[in-house]
Amino acid sequence: MRQQEKWWQKEVIYQIYPRSFYDSNQDGIGDIPGIIEKLDYLSDLGVTSLWICPIFQSPMADNGYDISDYFAISEEFGTLEDVKRLIAEAKARGIKIILDLVVNHTSDEHAWFQEALRDPKSKYRDYYIFKEGTEAPNNWRSIFGGSVWEKLPNEDIFYYHTFHKKQPDLNWENPALREEVYQMVTTWLEMGIAGFRIDAITFIKKDLTFKSQPADGVDGLVKCTKTSRNQPGIEVFLKELNERCFQKYDCVTVAEAPGVPYDQLDQFIGPDGFFSMIFDFKHADLDVASGSEWFKRVAWTPEDLFQILEESQLAIQTSGWGAPFIENHDQPRATSKYLLNQATNPLAVKAIGLMYFFLRGTPFIYQGQELGMINFERDGIDAFDDISSIDQYHRGMAEGLTADEALQIINLRSRDNSRTPVQWTAEPTVGFTEGTPWLPIAERSEVRNAAHQIATPDSIFQFYKAMIALKQNPALETLTLGEIAFPERQGKPVFLYRREDAGASYLIVVSLSEMRETITLERPVKAVHLYNSQDYTIDQHLLTLPAFGALVIEEEK
Ligand code: GLC
Ligand code: CA
Repeated sequence: MRQQEKWWQKEVIYQIYPRSFYDSNQDGIGDIPGIIEKLDYLSDLGVTSLWICPIFQSPMADNGYDISDYFAISEEFGTLEDVKRLIAEAKARGIKIILDLVVNHTSDEHAWFQEALRDPKSKYRDYYIFKEGTEAPNNWRSIFGGSVWEKLPNEDIFYYHTFHKKQPDLNWENPALREEVYQMVTTWLEMGIAGFRIDAITFIKKDLTFKSQPADGVDGLVKCTKTSRNQPGIEVFLKELNERCFQKYDCVTVAEAPGVPYDQLDQFIGPDGFFSMIFDFKHADLDVASGSEWFKRVAWTPEDLFQILEESQLAIQTSGWGAPFIENHDQPRATSKYLLNQATNPLAVKAIGLMYFFLRGTPFIYQGQELGMINFERDGIDAFDDISSIDQYHRGMAEGLTADEALQIINLRSRDNSRTPVQWTAEPTVGFTEGTPWLPIAERSEVRNAAHQIATPDSIFQFYKAMIALKQNPALETLTLGEIAFPERQGKPVFLYRREDAGASYLIVVSLSEMRETITLERPVKAVHLYNSQDYTIDQHLLTLPAFGALVIEEEK
């Protein structure tokens, strides 16, 4: 559907995981002054907005996704003054700041929760979900493993947590709690941020019967998603949040909203939707098994991946605008995940970049993705920080895997893979810090580092820079605003998509084949605007691509 044009449709958003971006004071932890120091790098790359993962006060059980004060900045990241300076310095370079809004839960160290524990009669008790009983009220499993219920010491009372036990869920049924949230959101919007990425927002409504469900694992528990994700009635809260906060500002909102079926997209991202856009995780989930064999890696083909992207894009196009991405702080590196033994092949890395970058939506780039960073290979559980990986390791062994098998699984899928320090140089601590990095580096590489790639004309960094420049070329606006269509795929591992409007037509061609491939072009070629290898030929209507060749072609209209 052709909507009225919005400013955020032309953005290129770069995601920063602050702990691992750049350490300005050598304590081994990335920080806000570190982001400020790298603004010129980001401006050179060409991105126009930064989404910064949570920087608020937090005991860091889940690295900031457990907030203990929404109005204070975590000391290790800096001060409120630093944040204001970041907003101003970024603005001076034409870059906007998007913060992370985590309101499904707080930290158990938040004053509200502490007060709720201290005084059961306080109003804060009803800010969370408490239930009396000697046993857990039901058999729902939390996202990070174990029951969603945690018992209070010395009391027959439990509280509810979708994620870790240090992340108690807020009770959105309580209007007073919602009011506090809206005021907090407004305060931050008033400070001049451009908008929010909104965390785990489809979890805010629970099935209030809290009934047990048939178990889906040997632990006797059942994934809580069926009963606590995108439940009927959630639309009341999301509409209110939008009306009370977002609509009053010309802000951008991108929601982490898993569990929204395509036929409900209209409510979420349609003309009167709750959000500007939502992430679709279908392609990220393509190799992840569920149920009792959750630890297996599902086999897939490039065709499966292309099919998922196509279905997603066509569904989103009927309602609104997308948020294409291939990496974030919850995923392993896209190179290792999608390219397997080709993860370090720069041509292949550029190819998956082009595969998603010109899809219809606002593209997201995760820190280090523009350098082709890859997964690590840890040799012991001690090298892991991610609570979810540590849980999976122990759960795997409890279910009969050997320690080596369990380790292998988390090496492949750990969220820590993308949370390692950004590789700025080839130095021992990769130019991230002169101290000891809080999380061991993924690798020390002569090529996968920013200094090398900035100085190398055909690097992955330069390719990302070229994609961004192309997107920002006003003469090529169709690449951003045009409709998307998917020409037939010709039975080869070559992805094709077209961006088109009345004035122009572009065909993006991406081969994930390890061999040369020839495809038939439907329309005459007017120009080639970008390629990852010169080694292609166009002979009338036949295009021959080298292994992992990828091109942006302008077609005759
Ligand atoms: C989201 C975040 C993830 C976090 C979880 C709980 O999925 O992206 O990093 O652990 O929510 O807040
Ligand atoms: Ca620091």
